Amino acid sequence: MKNFTSVSDINDVESLVNEAIALKKDPVNLSIGSGKTLGLLFFNPSLRTRLSSQKAAYNLGMNVMTLNIDEDGWKIEFEDGAVMDQGSQEHIKDAVQVISQYCDILGVRTFAGLKNRKDDYQEKVLSSFIAHATIPVISLESATLHPLQSLADLITIKEQGIVWPKVAVSWAPHPRPLPQAVVNSFLEWIMKTDAEVVLTHPHRYELSEKFTRGVTINYNQEEALAGADFVYAKNWSAYESYGQKISEDPAWTITMDKMKLTNHGRFMHCLPVRRNVIATDEVIDNSLVIKQAENRIYAAQIVLKKLLELQHEVAASH
Ligand code: CP
Repeated sequence: MKNFTSVSDINDVESLVNEAIALKKDPVNLSIGSGKTLGLLFFNPSLRTRLSSQKAAYNLGMNVMTLNIDEDGWKIEFEDGAVMDQGSQEHIKDAVQVISQYCDILGVRTFAGLKNRKDDYQEKVLSSFIAHATIPVISLESATLHPLQSLADLITIKEQGIVWPKVAVSWAPHPRPLPQAVVNSFLEWIMKTDAEVVLTHPHRYELSEKFTRGVTINYNQEEALAGADFVYAKNWSAYESYGQKISEDPAWTITMDKMKLTNHGRFMHCLPVRRNVIATDEVIDNSLVIKQAENRIYAAQIVLKKLLELQHEVAASH
């Protein structure tokens, strides 16, 4: 694994999930990261990703440097050959080469702008970091994917011990249009497992076919939830009418009555969650959301551990 930006960076998802669960039993191993530094760059807000990544790094003995680059850094220019006589003050190629000298691994959070689908789906910002970094880059949620969240979600599902689970993934309403990253990523990861996956959303909320290939889609939410062992709810904005909010229909909110259609199903959400909009208080209070957030530590930690092990192997071979 050179970088960690999607499920494609992982050879064996099941093994990685099992290794993370094993790590959770005895998480503190300060020697492997001793003398190493994790850099965390945020273009967007975060609670879980920031703190769980820091906690994971500390469990491995790493130092951590965090920068809210959109607020505290210079304004970054991403275009090659730009004449920088306007607002941007530092070119990405300079910034990333400098950061690569200060850190051993770099995490970057860069949400979709939701204005230009081509730029977002080409991962323009994250790709620029990878292109210029001389150290491994970890996605802390990019324009189209949130792999650390998805790994934590798979750890949480595995911990419930259900064989061949049915997982219903449901769109839910939200006052603001949100990126598709969490749902895209969850579908990528869950489709690597033996789960039966059903996706449900209103018409015109179809995701990119890249992420729904092989996924059963049912536009009837109650049918999709019937018999489910897990209900993963998330809002996302339209992919075709890119970034638009087409619906805020409260009929899609997850309620206890809907959960009664499931097979004693457990509700999941990545957080933060708008209570009584995405799901009712009672659904959230009886859910797996806090366990998912806890498992963000072990998702980050297993990824950092793998990258550090690789760095030690390379150093030993020189
Ligand atoms: N789920 C998640 O990524 O949470 P934060 O946005 O708070 O990091």
